Formats: sequence, structure tokens, C-alpha cells
Amino acid sequence: MTDTLTIRRPDDWHLHLRDGAMMRAVLPETARHFARAIIMPNLVPPVVTSADALAYRDRITAAVPADMSFTPLMTLYLTETTDPDDVAAAHASGLIHAVKLYPAGATTNSASGVRDFAKVQPVLERMAEIGLPLCLHGEVTTADVDIFDREQVFLETVLHPLRDRLPGLKVTLEHVTTSHGVDYITQADGDIAGTITTHHLMINRNHILAGGIRPHYYCLPVAKRATHQQALIAAATSGNPRFFLGTDSAPHTDPNKETACGCAGCFTATNTLSCLAHVFEAAGALDRLEGFTSLFGPARYDLSPNADTITLTKGVTPVPYPAKIATGEGPVTVFDPGHPLYWRVS
Ligand code: NCD
Ligand code: ZN
Repeated sequence: MTDTLTIRRPDDWHLHLRDGAMMRAVLPETARHFARAIIMPNLVPPVVTSADALAYRDRITAAVPADMSFTPLMTLYLTETTDPDDVAAAHASGLIHAVKLYPAGATTNSASGVRDFAKVQPVLERMAEIGLPLCLHGEVTTADVDIFDREQVFLETVLHPLRDRLPGLKVTLEHVTTSHGVDYITQADGDIAGTITTHHLMINRNHILAGGIRPHYYCLPVAKRATHQQALIAAATSGNPRFFLGTDSAPHTDPNKETACGCAGCFTATNTLSCLAHVFEAAGALDRLEGFTSLFGPARYDLSPNADTITLTKGVTPVPYPAKIATGEGPVTVFDPGHPLYWRVS
């Protein structure tokens, strides 16, 4: 039985760090294990210009604890008034690594997202020219579409036509939650990839709703039925380089989660690697963990894998981690997989 595993240090290709006191509290939870992360721009107000991204990067860098190393990879939040020249300049300078498209109203802080795709065609054309990836929150938001079908309908009505109009655009379908998303990415021609979160590998919609409502499992896209969870596990552990880790670790304080209208987001930064080793071991695919966490993402983003390594060790007693992280804004509950985890980063 394998009980130690050394892999290149991982990166997180979809992370919410927030700002201010919350950022200072959650950043070490990621930086302890991860070397780099694609930083989501859905602050209030969002990170829309290169000047915003530069200032945000400086705030993050200043908050990295002295004994840790961490490089934030910045993104811009695409709006209907985003300036293609500003995006191109931010990419050319090395400041940004992707542009994030939220359909308006899809999720937390997405009110400034895109309603009319025609309005963002020029910036997407420029991105295709310069090879800048588009990160997509792949859900439609119209009231007539069932929330469990939002991703599937997005693939048909938005993603497919978008990629027809922009065949050269590098697209990352983020936080894939369905077998439809997995199949689309596996079969599509052209430059497409998908990120998979920690929690969507570990839970399905029963975990949210059966036996009582569990707000800390509520995220967007919402977890789907178990067959979709199985498709995600199969994709993540397949060794297909189109699928790699984006945790979507998204902290909200307990009062904002445990309420009549709770926020969407699971906070998985603290125990993500323990969770992933558990999932990959259960799938008999520990040898493929490194590709998913540490190799396929850098290749996709034209970056080198990290030179340093981490070692995971399987213990006989459960790995200890805090139930909550204290932040200046209030406590944030750490993702609870519902069973003990035995793999720890040593
Ligand atoms: C994210 C957040 O809280 O910012 N929430 C979530 O459920 N994933 C937003 C997002 O990425 O959809
Ligand atoms: Zn997210």
C-alpha cells in the first residue's frame, strides 16, 4: 500500500481570496500548500481594469506571510464595457493570465457580468488573437431554466455558439459539475479545458439536502446528482490534461451562510489536498494526482510546473484541521467531507 506521495507543488486554477481582513485570514490557508492561484475578480466592486488588478495583486502580495511563498495570477472581470486595449496591455505586461466571464446574476457578486454577448465580442476576438484564456462561469441564469440544468443549457445555448464565433479562443469551463460538461470538454475540438473543484468530487446534492439542509455544502454551480459526481471523479482521475484543479474555495462568514438566504461557496483551501488524495486513492489513481494538481494547469497557462515538491503521507489517525478559520469579519467554516481524512501534507 502506498502511504507517501511526493508531487510537484500544486497550483489552484480558481480561487476566491476576497480582500482586507478576510483575505489576510484565508490567504495562508492556500499559500501553505499552493504556489500559485488564479485569483477570481468578483470583489465588490469587481476587478475590471488593469489598474484594479495591479492594486489587488499588490494587496495580496503584501498579505503573504513572511515564511510562505505564493504568487497570485490575476484575472479581469469581463463587463460589457471592458476595453480590449486595456486587457491586451495587462496581458502583455504579464499582469493578468485570464479574463473571467460571469453571466449576469449567475453567482456571488456577478451583477456586473455579461448580459449581451454581442457587446463583448470585440474583447473576446482580441483575446483569441493574443492567446489569453477566457474563464467561464458556465451557467445560464434565466428564471425558466431549472437550477440543476443551468450548466447543461449553457453548453448548448451559450458555449457552443460562442466557440463557433471564436474558434481560436482558449476557453476554460470552470467548476464543471455535470457529465454533460465532462463530455463536452472531452469531445470538443479546439482549445478547451475544464477545472474541477474539490467539493464537487466529494459531495452530490444529497449531501446538501438529505436529512436536513446543510448550507456549508451550498455553492454555485450547485452540486448535482451522484451520477454527475461520479463523472467528475472519472474525469479528474483519468489523466486527461484537459481537466485540472480549480478549488473555487470561496469563503463566506458563518452568519452569511447559516441564514434564511445563505451565500453560495464552499471553503476548501485548508483541507483540499487531504480531500483530493482521498478521492484519488479511492479511485485507484494516486499516480494521477500530480497531473491534476500540479502539471496540467501550468501547461494550459504556458507556465512551468513548480520546481519544489510537497509530500503527502497517509497516517493511521485522521488528519487534524480546524473546523473554522477566524477572520476579521467572523468565522469561516472549513469544508467538512463528512468522514475522516488520512492524507496530510507533511
Ligand atoms: C463564489 C463566491 O462566493 O464568490 N461562490 C461559489 O459558490 N462558487 C462565486 C462563484 O465562483 O460562483
Ligand atoms: Zn468561483
